[in-house]
Amino acid sequence: MNILLTGGMGYIGSHTAVLLASAGYYVHIYDNLCNSKAQTLTRIQELSAKTVGFTEGDIRDTKKLSQVLRDQKIDAVIHLAGLKAVGESSQKPIEYYANNVQGSISLIQAMQSVGISTLVFSSSATVYGDPIYLPYDEAHPTSPTNPYGRNKLQIEEILRDLAGSDKTWKIACLRYFNPVGAHESGLIGEDPNGIPNNLMPVIAQVVNGKLPSLNIFGNDYETEDGTGKRDYIHVVDLAEGHLAALTWLKDSPGCHAFNLGSGNSRSVMELLHHFENASGQKIPYQVVGRRPGDLAEYYAKANKARDLLGWETKRDLPEICNNTWLWIKNNRAS
Ligand code: NAD
Ligand code: WQD
Repeated sequence: MNILLTGGMGYIGSHTAVLLASAGYYVHIYDNLCNSKAQTLTRIQELSAKTVGFTEGDIRDTKKLSQVLRDQKIDAVIHLAGLKAVGESSQKPIEYYANNVQGSISLIQAMQSVGISTLVFSSSATVYGDPIYLPYDEAHPTSPTNPYGRNKLQIEEILRDLAGSDKTWKIACLRYFNPVGAHESGLIGEDPNGIPNNLMPVIAQVVNGKLPSLNIFGNDYETEDGTGKRDYIHVVDLAEGHLAALTWLKDSPGCHAFNLGSGNSRSVMELLHHFENASGQKIPYQVVGRRPGDLAEYYAKANKARDLLGWETKRDLPEICNNTWLWIKNNRAS
């Protein structure tokens, strides 16, 4: 089976590419490299010991995308390409709608033009918005609180309309919780351009000396230690979720949403302590005010993915931190 990975050179895409190629799929990556580096391809091929194809291109270039789908004899698409910085999406909403929503429509049109109708889409837990109850299950109302989240929800709605109008479509919208960690080899991991916003990349920059200390955004939440709690999920567990979804979709027409999370929430302080254990280093930090828009806690009910896809997380916080630390040590010079 031949799979196109849009955004496959990025953080989640590179781990998914390694897993799929290792499992015997032919993987072709389509990425414009706006938030990734071409040399990641060498590492994906080294880790999977397989040839992985690559075309540099933008998902909004429908013609080019159609050509690649046709030339590479693609059977299914995993659509990870997108801009993902929540704060930036409020400053540049049109850029986000154009890239993420318009880009997804362009991809659908390219797939229609060559008759491909199996799609796995990178959605996000951010579609839920303020929790009415926890854990979030897939039936929880959706009410995202920022343009990035609304992009994800709009794309899901477009995909649901599409599957409603044409019964040949088989679509899985995977709602990721908080992806962290790196490949156990330390060869691929998260390497964001510019100043990071997410907790783990900030910690990475502190241990690398690029940032003096970690700002903890509030310790007055109603949680055990007062810091925010999230459902952190190892990126390789997440990659395995894509493989499970792709396999399940073979016999499952329609558009289906799945939470991909561990089902547990962990605090900022817990993550910090596990990272200090893994690295053997003290991480300097100070508690500052809450970050606007942050929630005290959220986590997944991931029973649907377990029951239908046969998928659940296997890797815990110590493994997440050990793998991240190895990735940081290996890539310090870059
Ligand atoms: P990433 O930035 O590392 O990877 C995204 C890739 O898409 C990059 O390689 C980038 O160059 C490419 N890209 C962006 N716009 C493109 C375009 N117009 N045409 C072609 N390529 C383009 O991000 P990631 O963390 O690997 O996220 C992958 C997907 O998962 C994204 O859609 C993101 O919104 C979603 N997601 C991420 C998280 C997270 O916390 N990392 C959580 C939930 C959902
Ligand atoms: C985690 C915790 C912060 C940075 C975001 C998106 C979500 C999804 C995943 C894409 C919170 C605290 C953080 C720092 C801190 N992405 N923190 N100091 O906000 O849960 O989710 O990424 O779909 O849509 O919103 O992740 O890693 O930013 O924060 O104290 O410097 O760490 O307050 O409690 P978040 P995060």
